[in-house]
Amino acid sequence: MAETLAGAASDAAREMPEFPMPRAAGCPFAPPPAVEELRADNPIGRIRIWDGSTPWIITGHEAQRALLTDPRVSANDRNPGFPFVTEYRQQIAKYTPELVVNTDAPEHTRLRRMVNGPFLVKRIEAMRAPIQKIVDGLIDDLLSGPNPADLVTALALPVPSLVISELLGVPYADHEFFQENSGLALDRAAAPEDSRAASTALSSYLDDLLGRKLTEPGEDVLSEMAARVTAGEMTRDEAVHMGVAMLIAGHETTATMIGLGTLVLLQNPEQLALVRDARDPKVVAGAVEELLRYLSIVQVGLRRVATEDIEIGGQVIRAGDGIVVDLHAANWDPEAFPGADRVDVTRPARKHNAFGYGPHQCLGQSLARLELQVVYGTLFRRVPALRLAVPVEELRFDHTGTTYGVDSLPVAW
Ligand code: HEM
Repeated sequence: MAETLAGAASDAAREMPEFPMPRAAGCPFAPPPAVEELRADNPIGRIRIWDGSTPWIITGHEAQRALLTDPRVSANDRNPGFPFVTEYRQQIAKYTPELVVNTDAPEHTRLRRMVNGPFLVKRIEAMRAPIQKIVDGLIDDLLSGPNPADLVTALALPVPSLVISELLGVPYADHEFFQENSGLALDRAAAPEDSRAASTALSSYLDDLLGRKLTEPGEDVLSEMAARVTAGEMTRDEAVHMGVAMLIAGHETTATMIGLGTLVLLQNPEQLALVRDARDPKVVAGAVEELLRYLSIVQVGLRRVATEDIEIGGQVIRAGDGIVVDLHAANWDPEAFPGADRVDVTRPARKHNAFGYGPHQCLGQSLARLELQVVYGTLFRRVPALRLAVPVEELRFDHTGTTYGVDSLPVAW
């Protein structure tokens, strides 16, 4: 009997759709059709992931917000049943110290308070002028260099790398090293030993740097963390891992949004004109929200596990069940955003889930918003003739990274 039941369960698991699902050819910005079908059928469904486990997948906007703020839903990856993104992430979980990303309240609240200060809206807003200077300088270089050029290497990567280096106190001269290793650490297609080597290289780099900040502090986030280590509020290991997390999260995501958002606007000239001709900064800020919604670049889903039984939308998520929160699906939920498959920069899109929701909502969102506002608000005004230099079919999209983006974006003007 037990065998029959186990057999039936594994048959049911085999029939569940495998996640992540492929996108449709020729639709580079839409969520995979199978995810859209899941949301239409049941916003709280089941999937099968790489290790054969069958977590829940949450595709509805409202259900996501309910679960991401539910104290019975945990981000702690040491809890049994946690649905890991890759085998590598599973392997390292037991060696990773407690960080903002893998803890729940009250520990999460304590750790987040420790790193919140530099990311508060007011402190970030003070960076508008320096960021404008960085963007203007890079556009000067673009315009005086060869035409066509790759917008990813000329603008999308250097803006967030320069900004996060400045904020953290990491020498920008090392950007090739940290860009390459962050990419490897997060790539689902990378061999686990390559991801491990990349993470180890980043940790020892940050550990070295933190060591120097302990004796020669500067005006930066790493120095602030070094002071907390000296005061006994944080361990050195926690500070190093937090530094690595910020370095990775701080440039990969925003770089991706700059490249892909520019592509969307170049493909939608009437929307681009609204951004280019905007006199009111609120118009550009609104366009940033809509592009964040439309693109929802985090493509592996947020990962959680239930610690108690939870009844939601006519389903019961049992304690120990894994939960995958698919942000793109929710941001294309027609109940939350009518005509969600259309990019419309005038739409009130701020209630999107692209930065997550609840206690783990993106720490760097004010910084990302500011960088994107400055880039989109400057690029099309200063380079009004900007156009794609190759047919869109020739572009290569990254389907295996934590974020979805374009590898390069050849543009002419
Ligand atoms: C467009 C750019 C960005 C996007 C789309 C994005 C997206 C996200 C999302 C969806 C989460 C929630 C993860 C979860 O709940 O499991 C998150 C968390 C986080 N993000 Fe971002 N992010 C961006 C930029 C940044 C930047 C610039 C930083 C700078 C340091 C950053 C640092 C973090 C950190 C540290 C967390 C973990 C927060 C916590 O668990 O309490 N992100 N981000």
